[in-house]
Amino acid sequence: KPVVLSGCQPSGQLTLGNYMGALKQWVSMQDDHDCLYMLVDLHAITVRQDPKKLFDACLDGLALYLACGIDPQKSTLFVQSHVPEHAQLSWVLNCYTQMGELNRMTQFKDKSAKNENNINVGLYSYPVLQAADILAYQADKVPVGEDQKQHLELTRDIATRVNNLYGDVFKLPDPYIPEFGARIMSLQEPNKKMSKSDTNPNNFIGLLEEPKKIAKKIKRAVTDSDEQANIYFNPTEKAGVSNLLTLLSLATGKSIDSLVPEYEDKMYGHLKGDVADAVVALIEPIQQRYTDLRNNRDYLNQVMREGADKASRRAAVTLKNVYEAIGFIPKP
Ligand code: AQP
Repeated sequence: KPVVLSGCQPSGQLTLGNYMGALKQWVSMQDDHDCLYMLVDLHAITVRQDPKKLFDACLDGLALYLACGIDPQKSTLFVQSHVPEHAQLSWVLNCYTQMGELNRMTQFKDKSAKNENNINVGLYSYPVLQAADILAYQADKVPVGEDQKQHLELTRDIATRVNNLYGDVFKLPDPYIPEFGARIMSLQEPNKKMSKSDTNPNNFIGLLEEPKKIAKKIKRAVTDSDEQANIYFNPTEKAGVSNLLTLLSLATGKSIDSLVPEYEDKMYGHLKGDVADAVVALIEPIQQRYTDLRNNRDYLNQVMREGADKASRRAAVTLKNVYEAIGFIPKP
């Protein structure tokens, strides 16, 4: 089976964007792929985190993965910091990555603009750790949202460079970006992506937010200020409305083409009401499963322990090959 690897950062509450761009795909890939899904806490500390919040966000995230349908019998589910090989391989890969390459990363530019007083080296080399995450398992496919495409290209470049020097050490991974839903936009500023660490909570929908609050946020979403309140899909001209149509389509499983005619003579308010209902119907059962799982710490511990052991055994094989290839003396 092709190997799949992906993760979300416990840098806040997972959002509807994380669900549509990542988790939904992850669940659907479990049967015919060998999947590894992680919570990337090492990545999360590239931005300052409150220790208690980080701790809780990790457990919340794990319970949410399970509630969304990630099955630890089918997939390897783990917390990144429990598998030391990620950090070890990342150091090696740092030495095979050029600063010029990292300077071009748009996520670094965006995040350093937002965190001007903490532009740390980890934020800069974030894509190298991500390359280590992927290459440690010789992943074939990496399901990600559109925003991660550039990082995946860098991963391939680093892997190719190492392979050219030492033979076939790494498999080259392909990004797996959903054709639709790869970029869920902010509710109030529909020209930027929905992000869990956005300082304005009205911009995102947290998967654990109260249904009433979710509905309210959707009803207050920015639509478009053109004279005619026409409802049609065009992300450039109608960013807000198109984002709502995207959410409706993904939450109901109906195509955009079949949805648009339903709103021919209707107002933005109708659309928002329908989106709110559909999103709540999608999220409510997830929240119910989440509550039971989150209260079962013994089970969460078991999932984390077993997942980390499985992942570590696999990553250790790659790390050993890499160390040998570059000429490190094996521990006698
Ligand atoms: N708005 C989005 N639409 C579609 N996919 C998205 N993803 C994130 N936002 C959207 C996808 O979710 C996966 C996990 O992302 P992450 O948690 O590692 O970090 P991120 O991409 O930086 O997500 P956030 O929510 O924006 O986090 P913060 O605010 O902490 O930086 C990835 O596959 C991503 O593409």
